[in-house]
Amino acid sequence: MTNAAHTLVTCAMERAILPQTFTSYAPSNIALSKYWGKRDKHRNLPLNSSLSISLADWGTKTTVAPSTDDRDRIWLNGAEVPCDDSFAVKALAFVRLFRANRQIPLHIKTENSLPTAAGLASSASGFAALTQALNGAFGLELSLPQQSMIARLGSGSACRSLWHGFVRWDRGIAEDGHDSLASPLDVIWPEFRIGVVAVDTGPKAQSSRNGMNHTAETSPLFQSWPEAAEADCAKIEASIIAHDFVHLGQLAEANALAMHATMMAARPSLSYLNAQSWAVLERLWRARQDGLQAYATMDAGANIKLLFLEASTEPLQEVFPDVQVIEPFGFCTQQTRV
Ligand code: DP6
Repeated sequence: MTNAAHTLVTCAMERAILPQTFTSYAPSNIALSKYWGKRDKHRNLPLNSSLSISLADWGTKTTVAPSTDDRDRIWLNGAEVPCDDSFAVKALAFVRLFRANRQIPLHIKTENSLPTAAGLASSASGFAALTQALNGAFGLELSLPQQSMIARLGSGSACRSLWHGFVRWDRGIAEDGHDSLASPLDVIWPEFRIGVVAVDTGPKAQSSRNGMNHTAETSPLFQSWPEAAEADCAKIEASIIAHDFVHLGQLAEANALAMHATMMAARPSLSYLNAQSWAVLERLWRARQDGLQAYATMDAGANIKLLFLEASTEPLQEVFPDVQVIEPFGFCTQQTRV
C-alpha cells in the first residue's frame, strides 16, 4: 500500500546532508471552505477539497538543529517540553517520518506567534514550519508543493500553511495521495480582513481529528457533506477570484454552519460552539441586518472568526470591541511577531 508523501520523504532522505541548524516560519490558516472528513485515515486524505486564508504574522517559527547532547529535545515557546507530552509525541512522530530508524538526534525549538488569547489552533502552522525546517536542516531541497504533501501527513490543514494568502487544497483522487496537496491562488486582496472574537482560549475538549472521524462515522447529515463541500469550495474560489465579498462571506458562513450541523447530528452529538459562540453569532446577524458587511466562520473550537473588508473595520469594532484584527495581505510590510 504506497503512500506518495511517505515515499517522497524516504527518497529525499537518501540524499540528506548531516543536519544543519535551520529556522523556518509558517503562517496559521483559517478555512473559508472546510476540510471535514477523510477518505483515507492512514494517508490523511480528505473527502473534499478546501480553501483557506493564511494569517500572515500569526503563525509558528521552528528551528531544527543537530543535538548537542545526543538526544532529542523539544522546546515550545521557550520552555522545554517532556518527550512524553502529547505535543512532543506528535512532533517526534513526524520527525521520525524523515529520519526513519537512523540515529540523528535533534533539538527542535518552536515558537507560536498566535496570541494565546485568540484561542486558535497552531497545528497547521506547526507542522508546516516543522516540514520546512526539516527540509532545510537536511538540505532536501523539496519544492513547496512537495512539502505541502508531506505536511499533510502531520495535519491535513497544515498542507495549506506553506503559503500566504488564499490557498486551495485539492482533495485529489489518487489512492496513494500524490495529487492531494495545496497550491496558492494567484489573488491579492489587500482590503481583506479577519477578525478573531475569542470565546474560549483553553484546549479543546475533542481534537478536530477525533471530531471529524466521529462525525463521519455516526452523523446521518454527513452523507450529503462531501459533495456539498466540494461545490462550496469551487464557488468560494470563484467568488475570491471575482473579489465578490458578499458572495464569499455568505458562502463561507453557510459552509461553516453546515459543517457544525453535521457534528450536531452526530451520535452522540458534538458541538464545539458554546452559548457564548452563539451569542456572538446572533450579535453579528443583528448587526448585519443594520448594514454591517461581515460574516463568520468557526472551526473545531468555540471562537468566532469574522470576515470583512477594511472599510468595515470601525463599525465592526463598535459591535465587537475586543476583536483582534488580522491583515492577511499585510505581511510584506509588518514585522513578524516572533
Ligand atoms: C475544522 O487539519 O486539524 O479546522 O488532518 O486530522 O490533523 P487532521 O485535522 P485538522 O482539521 C482541521 C479541521 C477544521 C477545518 C479546516 O481547517 O479545513
